[in-house]
Amino acid sequence: MALSRLQINHVRNLQQVSLEDLQQVNVFFGRNGSGKTSVLESIHLLGMARSFRGNSIKSVITHGENDCTVFGLVTPPLSSSAAGAALPLGVRRNIAGEVQIRVNGKTVRTVAELVEHFPVQVITADSFELLAGSPGARRQYLDWGVFHVEHRFFSQWQRFQRCIKQRNKLLRRGKISGQELDVWTRDLTDSGEAINNFRKDYFGFLKPRFSEIMFRLAPSLTALELRFRQGWDKQLSYEEALKSCASADLEQGYTHVGPQRADLRVMYDGHLASETLSRGQQKLVVSGLKLAQGELMSEMGKGKCTYLIDDLSSELDQQHSQLVCALLASMEAQVFITCVHLQDIETVWPETRELAMFHVEQGAVQRYSPL
Ligand SMILES: Nc1ncnc2c1ncn2[C@@H]1O[C@H](COP(=O)(O)OP(=O)(O)O)[C@@H](O)[C@H]1O
Ligand SMILES: [Mg+2]
Repeated sequence: MALSRLQINHVRNLQQVSLEDLQQVNVFFGRNGSGKTSVLESIHLLGMARSFRGNSIKSVITHGENDCTVFGLVTPPLSSSAAGAALPLGVRRNIAGEVQIRVNGKTVRTVAELVEHFPVQVITADSFELLAGSPGARRQYLDWGVFHVEHRFFSQWQRFQRCIKQRNKLLRRGKISGQELDVWTRDLTDSGEAINNFRKDYFGFLKPRFSEIMFRLAPSLTALELRFRQGWDKQLSYEEALKSCASADLEQGYTHVGPQRADLRVMYDGHLASETLSRGQQKLVVSGLKLAQGELMSEMGKGKCTYLIDDLSSELDQQHSQLVCALLASMEAQVFITCVHLQDIETVWPETRELAMFHVEQGAVQRYSPL
């Protein structure tokens, strides 16, 4: 799952950019405002059908244009049955918000069908929000990992979303009998328990991986601890928890407990890391979380994910940037990394001979050869 070719049309200031022969490590350098982050955004668009900057697709499309498109060729891992064959992917988004996704020449209906072919992880200035922001972002983080290692997860997740939407709709209308509620409770229970079990299993693998990585990134932060909250009292089955909340659900018109309330907490010495650690330390923790997921995926034989790293050296000091880069290099993950000056990366990447370099200037991207 490495991107070998990329074509970008109308993403921010990138009118038309074509990149060939992409390597394991690809560096984009250039002045502020030249279009570096937009290149990463385009790659993210190819993997997730959306940007990582804000929610509005309108701001991603070049002003004055109606849509943006990205095409890419990804190569599956050698272990998969399709070894060697390159898979064409394409995503088009228009200002009306419509999404068109093509995988291997065919239109697919869900983003999930795209995501499974090209997993991407992002580390940017905003990613430390993962710790301080809403639990939703942390659930998304967790589910990204579960999705990529457990193929049964997504159908249960879809089922759960359908059930809870319906259950909440009935609760909101306030015209639901206890008996009717019981029917929806049963449906919700199966998928809810399944999601929770997948998450718990995954968390069991993630936790030690995260600790190991943090030990390499920040050995002094020994009091770090990752906790999983499932969204209801863990002494109870989901069915029991739902029953115990039934009257509150009826009264307030929504489902109080369940996987939709799950959270992943990063604690430091018994306190929330987001309230205790410095901003720099929080960024390291977030990098650790993201690296742990990539490592786990590859360890479980599910291929490697591609890392998009925006302006690492402005986010972390040199020593820690070096550590993050060394980990990425040892994982042999594909990396797209941006910086202002080429020296920024040369001082932090362990082996610079293998880097593919691109100079970005006013929306144009040129392969750069130092010779
Ligand atoms: N929708 C858009 N249409 C055209 N240009 C845009 C749009 N959104 C942002 N830009 C411009 O794109 C340029 C590149 O932004 P960005 O990729 O963030 O630069 P960099 O990461 O190199 O600092 C900026 O100069 C910005 O003004
Ligand atoms: Mg930028």
